[in-house]
Amino acid sequence: MRTDIAIIGAGPAGLLLSHLLAAEGIESIVVESRAREYVAARIRAGILEDSSVRLLRSVGLGGGIDARGFEHRGIYLQWPWERHHIDFVSLAGRSVWVYGQTQLQADLVAAGEAAGRQVIYEASGTALHDLDSDHPSVTFTDAAGLPQRIEAAAVAGCDGKFGPSRAAMPDEGRETWERDYPYSWLGILADVAPSTDELIYAWHPDGFALHSMRSATVSRLYLQVPSGTDIADWPDDRIWDALATRLGHGQDGWQLTPGPIAEKSVLPFRSFVQSPMRHGRLFLAGDSAHTVPPTGAKGLNLAIADVALLAPALARLVRDKDSALADAYSATALRRVWRSEYFSWWMTSMLHISGDPFDAQLQLAQLRWVTASTAGAAGLAENYAGLPIGF
Ligand code: FAD
Ligand code: DHB
Repeated sequence: MRTDIAIIGAGPAGLLLSHLLAAEGIESIVVESRAREYVAARIRAGILEDSSVRLLRSVGLGGGIDARGFEHRGIYLQWPWERHHIDFVSLAGRSVWVYGQTQLQADLVAAGEAAGRQVIYEASGTALHDLDSDHPSVTFTDAAGLPQRIEAAAVAGCDGKFGPSRAAMPDEGRETWERDYPYSWLGILADVAPSTDELIYAWHPDGFALHSMRSATVSRLYLQVPSGTDIADWPDDRIWDALATRLGHGQDGWQLTPGPIAEKSVLPFRSFVQSPMRHGRLFLAGDSAHTVPPTGAKGLNLAIADVALLAPALARLVRDKDSALADAYSATALRRVWRSEYFSWWMTSMLHISGDPFDAQLQLAQLRWVTASTAGAAGLAENYAGLPIGF
């Protein structure tokens, strides 16, 4: 097969890149290792930044958000006996939207199918070739067991943290940075109306808790648990009891309403960045180049910001044989990546119990400042609601 851009990975980065390229008149083929149904069902992120929503709307992908998303002015930050609202709109002039990654994924698949764009699911043995030339290729075995090759002008590695693109970068000149955290999140999706109008981020001596949501009838909640936690040790009653304690059930009359748990899983934490995000004709975007711990909801938004830069860069490269934007891509994208790495690390460090009582006092001092000072609150608001793309 021949196309302009071979895209590896049909997650949000890959499918949105394919959509943005099509808007520039550039063809692409997406290769995905999983089945379509598997990719569609993955439960992941839930919050879109202002700049992500603006971008999606500008390319005709805002219909689902407008119909089924929920605009939030801010978040609640709390610790025992105190809950404070941080109003992003008045502090930073921007809001965020509750819109699940599963919903965005469905919108992207529907738009791709309507436009007849090609996504090849259930590919195995994906490999990248000739990245130093101007005719790179991607090979794989298709679902029928037949060997396939896609020849393209460039390859976009949108294959997440376990895909082959990150590893296809030569060791020479490659730098990586990482940080592990001694805790994870236990996440649940529950068929019950949210007990809050906007998200609650809760510091608690037993560990952090987060009350998020997906719709008027579906809640998404998380608990800090130690790394290596076995989900079997957390029956539903234990989860709801811990959430009630940490989120402050009974505090000032507030009540957490439990309900049937539809899904639960443990999500490990890691910060990771690989630089550069480009080698020859291979360009990395999204989780293939970086991961953030989930506190602050940056992962999906960073993937969107990467491809918003990458699409025009690839279009100029392929259509106009002009490599200026492609040459600048890695450095430009990494500026926002490190800003988001910082914010995610900062939110994580401020809210998760480390076991050290000195840390706990520092966290409470920081929480009091962030919620009491307009400057402190505005810093959180600006970063959470998202900086403009290209910042
Ligand atoms: P992915 O969504 O990982 O997509 C990569 C795709 O590449 C996948 O479909 C994968 O199957 C495919 N692929 C992998 N290997 C190959 C191969 N060899 N050949 C072909 N295809 C391949 N972020 C937030 O902002 N908030 C959250 O609450 C949040 N929760 C999360 C919960 C979980 C359990 C996980 C795993 C992530 C979460 N994230 C969250 C992060 C967010 O989901 C990611 O940052 C986002 O999915 C990145 O999109 P992506 O397209 O770069 O990567
Ligand atoms: C969600 C996840 C996050 O990491 C976060 O900070 C806020 C919300 C969510 O899944 O809804």
